[in-house]
Amino acid sequence: MLYDLIIRDALVIDGSDTPGVRADVAVREGRIQRIGDLSGVSASEEINAAGRVLAPGFIDVHTHDDTVVIRHPAMLPKITQGVTTVIVGNCGISASPVTLAGDPPDPMNLLGPAQAFVYPRFSDYRNAVDAARPAVNVAALIGHTALRSNHLDDLFRTARPAEITAMRAQLRESLEAGALGLSTGLAYATAYSAQTDEVKQLAEELTAFGAVYTTHLRSEFEPVLEAMDEAFDIARHARSPVVISHLKCAGAGNWGRSPQLLASLEEAARHQAVGCDCYPYAASSSTLDLKQVTDAFPITITWSTPHPDQSGRDLQAIAADWGLSLLEAARRLQPAGAVYYGMDERDVQNILKHPLSMIGSDGLPEDPFPHPRLWGAFPRVLGYFSRDLGLFPLHRAIHKMTGLTATRFGLHERGFVREGYWADLVLFNPHTVRDVADFKAPKRAAEGIDGVWVNGRLSYADGKPQGERQGRFLARSGSLVEGFS
Ligand code: ZN
Ligand code: CU
Repeated sequence: MLYDLIIRDALVIDGSDTPGVRADVAVREGRIQRIGDLSGVSASEEINAAGRVLAPGFIDVHTHDDTVVIRHPAMLPKITQGVTTVIVGNCGISASPVTLAGDPPDPMNLLGPAQAFVYPRFSDYRNAVDAARPAVNVAALIGHTALRSNHLDDLFRTARPAEITAMRAQLRESLEAGALGLSTGLAYATAYSAQTDEVKQLAEELTAFGAVYTTHLRSEFEPVLEAMDEAFDIARHARSPVVISHLKCAGAGNWGRSPQLLASLEEAARHQAVGCDCYPYAASSSTLDLKQVTDAFPITITWSTPHPDQSGRDLQAIAADWGLSLLEAARRLQPAGAVYYGMDERDVQNILKHPLSMIGSDGLPEDPFPHPRLWGAFPRVLGYFSRDLGLFPLHRAIHKMTGLTATRFGLHERGFVREGYWADLVLFNPHTVRDVADFKAPKRAAEGIDGVWVNGRLSYADGKPQGERQGRFLARSGSLVEGFS
């Protein structure tokens, strides 16, 4: 047989932001070999895909799957959505290079317990991913907070020169070993005390590699524009591209400001390489942050170490039960996780549909009662936002989760249905695809995802994982600067 697989008569939407075309797609040895009319040709396996869409496998640009890809390599929350690659290490937190002194500091605890942090060098992490062979491919950023936790005895101050030198050496070694770039989570207390200059000095290591800077901004509340300016400033200093993580207008006092944020992004894009990612929900989720406790909108507790029985309950109800104020109850629940219903739907839609935004889940895989974005982000964009609301055409939705992302992050020969590219593919029914996970029942697989291939092998079909897991570690494949234009 000439080919291992032919998927016949699909509507191929190739990731490049153009409408689909009916075609057959042939795969051999992990790669897409031919796209076109293959009616005279046969393959070991053939699939009739009439009426369905064949797209590049989705790339989850914003994840915290660092340790779960090794500990739970089936990666069901992602493969069931059609995701074939995850980018880990976002928001300043990464599993490597890390040497913990005790428990992981907040929010590194989102990545797992202390025992999960066993990668003192980035190459250790990379080898562990390859050995675990998760169901999806993995590419990784290096977290600023992770570096700080290695070298600072006190995270609530800015780093001293010798500590910056040590962090830079670790970052450089990680970039040499294939890391994509540097991430920060400056809003979190464990990084907030880092002055801009500390980050700038670290970011200087990105320049030689053409590597990317991604950032959970110092604020997503009232000072969000100033925080964006800081991010642009850091990236200009490093001459590196910058991706603003989960761009949003957080907090009731901030609603309606998405046009200002997007104007700022566009203005920056005239002078430097910028982009952003976002998840398709008007609620956020992270560790329970006392600064974010408010009665302006509901807050759900997703986990609590001292009070695990409160998982899934409303903070207001817990406070009432305990006869405490919201803040006192929150303090008693810590360490804990929360969902904050702190965004306006119109802002979410404005950011989602903007041409500079990519789709990322920001899912929290360790959470016993996770925000539904973990299982639902991608089908929600395809089904609810593109098909049902008509916010943008299907090919634009797919572009935001495939071609745009692969280009921005330098994922070589991924993100497009193109001859010679790796056969990371998803076949879905455009009429039925939808997210099923919601805030009440958040761990539910999407509907309408009919087949997912990773590196050319069927990995998910009929609602179940298929065959052996095929994911690989993906190293940065050169300068990312040209990915922006
Ligand atoms: Zn974040
Ligand atoms: Cu995040």
